[in-house]
Amino acid sequence: MDTRPAPVLDRRLAIDAVSVTERAAVAAARWRGRGDEPAADEAAIQGAHRELLRAALSGCIVMGEGGQGETERLHVGEAVGTGGIEVDIAIDALEGTTLCAKNMAGSISVIVLAEPGSLLQVPAVYMEKVAIGPGYPPGTVSLSVTPEANIKAVADARGVSPSEITALVLDRPRHGALIEAIRATGASVQFITDGDVAGIIHTTNPQASGVDIYLGSGGAAEGVLAAAALRCLGGQMEGRLILDSDAKRKQAKALGIKDMSAIYGLADMVRGDCLMAISGVTDGPLLSGVRLLRDSVETHTLLMRAATGTVRRISSTHRDLGRFVSE
Ligand code: FBP
Repeated sequence: MDTRPAPVLDRRLAIDAVSVTERAAVAAARWRGRGDEPAADEAAIQGAHRELLRAALSGCIVMGEGGQGETERLHVGEAVGTGGIEVDIAIDALEGTTLCAKNMAGSISVIVLAEPGSLLQVPAVYMEKVAIGPGYPPGTVSLSVTPEANIKAVADARGVSPSEITALVLDRPRHGALIEAIRATGASVQFITDGDVAGIIHTTNPQASGVDIYLGSGGAAEGVLAAAALRCLGGQMEGRLILDSDAKRKQAKALGIKDMSAIYGLADMVRGDCLMAISGVTDGPLLSGVRLLRDSVETHTLLMRAATGTVRRISSTHRDLGRFVSE
């Protein structure tokens, strides 16, 4: 069954998407290992923002660095671009801020350009997530069943015992019971300290990553970004917002969410065509990080398109250092 969205977005938008994450990644890279998370984040935001202002598109930030009035740049509702194709923009200029500040693997810069109105609007809360890569029968995993049942379903679909399955989980105290449940099936748990957008993408290449399934809760915005990646790369994912207080339910309601315990599939989170660019900040299994050389800067970017499933890996050498150094 072909579940790809119709090709609405012109692929020429791709170069603007890449330029944004490249520039954000370079700006953040200057703060790698300096232990200053806010400075790394701010540098990435400024870099991305400058590039978005000059992009040849009519963009509206629908998921960014905060709500209107909360932040100067990349807030929800901000209009960016010099005009052109209308797109909604979800951006995390620096995903894995702690990883960057500690110069640990897996810090990235991420942007999604999507058909207007096609991205699920989520409040700043956690989302429970389950994800697997492509090649499984539809509906193999779901948040409507236990983690044990999901592990068993993946093992059955692969024709192996659960002890052959590796689940990737964010290393957090809140995941104690989940980790016990996974291990009780015989499956193994692999931890990440941060960065569940990349974590979920790892399920799409189990041969390289060794990861069969992603389980656990992380940021809801990161959930939608990961869903965009799986729309491009293939795979299955479900997300459920964790709305465990009146304040959070109020925020959700303000965004038009009626069912507070809804389980969202990939096509609920990203309802149409999208383009996604991800640049490495620090080195990681998904992407190499930025190389700051004497006469040039090198960046590595993954560029993907939902309608076609095309995945491009772009290695760039930037010699217009003045542009990057001014940040
Ligand atoms: P930031 O880059 O915003 O710090 O997010 C990193 C991250 O690890 C996300 O990938 C993940 O979804 C979220 O934080 C998990 O939140 P928490 O650290 O509160 O468990």
